[in-house]
Amino acid sequence: MNILLLGSGGREHALAWKMAQSYHCDQLYIAPGNAGTAAFGTNLPLSVTDFGAIADACIQYKINMLVVGPEEPLVKGIYDFFQSRPDLKRIIVVGPSAEAAQLEGSKNFSKQFMQRHKIPTASYAAFTAETLAEGREYISRHSLPVVLKADGLAAGKGVVIANSTEEALQVFDEMIVNKQFGASSEKVVIEQFLSGIEVSVFVLTNGSDYQIIGHAKDYKRIGEGDTGPNTGGMGCVSPVPFMDEAFMHKVEERIIRPTVEGLASENLTYYGFIFFGLISVDGEPYVIEYNCRMGDPETEVVIPRLRTDLVALFAAMDNGTLQDANISFDERAAATVMAVSGGYPGNYAKDKPINIPADLLQNQDSLLFHAGTRREGDQVLTNGGRVLAVTSFGDTIGDAVEKSRNVLKRISFEDMYYRNDIGFEFPC
Ligand code: AMP
Ligand code: GLY
Repeated sequence: MNILLLGSGGREHALAWKMAQSYHCDQLYIAPGNAGTAAFGTNLPLSVTDFGAIADACIQYKINMLVVGPEEPLVKGIYDFFQSRPDLKRIIVVGPSAEAAQLEGSKNFSKQFMQRHKIPTASYAAFTAETLAEGREYISRHSLPVVLKADGLAAGKGVVIANSTEEALQVFDEMIVNKQFGASSEKVVIEQFLSGIEVSVFVLTNGSDYQIIGHAKDYKRIGEGDTGPNTGGMGCVSPVPFMDEAFMHKVEERIIRPTVEGLASENLTYYGFIFFGLISVDGEPYVIEYNCRMGDPETEVVIPRLRTDLVALFAAMDNGTLQDANISFDERAAATVMAVSGGYPGNYAKDKPINIPADLLQNQDSLLFHAGTRREGDQVLTNGGRVLAVTSFGDTIGDAVEKSRNVLKRISFEDMYYRNDIGFEFPC
């Protein structure tokens, strides 16, 4: 099978690494990819939202399967675009229809979906410019802290947890009146704040059957001790110690199963990953958000732990045999630590040479995944805020994190930064 993978992050490097190991994978192409993905296939310099160019590449390279890494092409309808073209219809697309991708693309859609299917989530209300006064009134009477969410995609910046009513009203006006996120904040969801421990669960589904392919806890804040601004993710661990069988059972019965049954009953076409962003409130799971893709850097721990052939799983998703797939995991703990450019998540410089010793990965327990990197001649250069992730296996989370840190100590680029305390709550 010839496969085209869309995206350019650490997630895509991890997916490329995994798919390239499959017996079913002939030629692998990555668009646009990064300096790391080039080791497993051919990088194509295409934008992930240029559907016309992607279609041309699929025809030119006789692609059989399109695997979509990031959310933007899904929310913009790449699945539907392929379905609408007789010459592309035969291609297996791993990713949901635009309608179903609203589970991520519209917070209001996902909240309504959860309400319809009685899936536990924070209570909420949604407002627009037409209902501004009601929205202000609702905020004024809301308990604190209160959570405000731009309805649409906002590059991970659309959620604010306000600690005072004044701040909440200001954020509300900024989003709706000043159109902070353009069309994405024309509607704002006001949500009850839930206090607990967050964990994410990953499922592959064809909209009627599903398989759980892993779970992870990520560390979103830039600073050690979970301080400072939010980032795309500074590290992850898996498995998460509190995800015991009893909790997982609740997640499956109250959240995963009703979600997939909801997709089926509403005829929402869904082939691909569902990322359940969950919070455990006193041992009871609630949905914080859905994403219609894998997470980054969650993929960098979830995929290395998955023993099952990923391309075979995608084929099973397509041909209705997902139920019969045999999912197995590496039972060891895994941790990934992300190295970022100084200044990230604010302004940062690009094009800094990265020094990676040739004998970097001497042991079998660590993997290097590129994120924001590109190659120029023999030199790998930084090309983004999150630059690379080192994933390691260990007997404990602490052990895995230690191994990743030891690998990172041997990599350098100007103003490189990483958190030393990933997995700090789980020392052993
Ligand atoms: P989201 O973009 O929906 O993932 O939100 C980003 C982050 O905001 C989440 O990962 C949580 O840490 C936090 N968050 C979102 N909604 C809530 C909520 N209702 N209660 C507490 N924290 C929340
Ligand atoms: N790490 C969070 C995400 O991928 O959305």
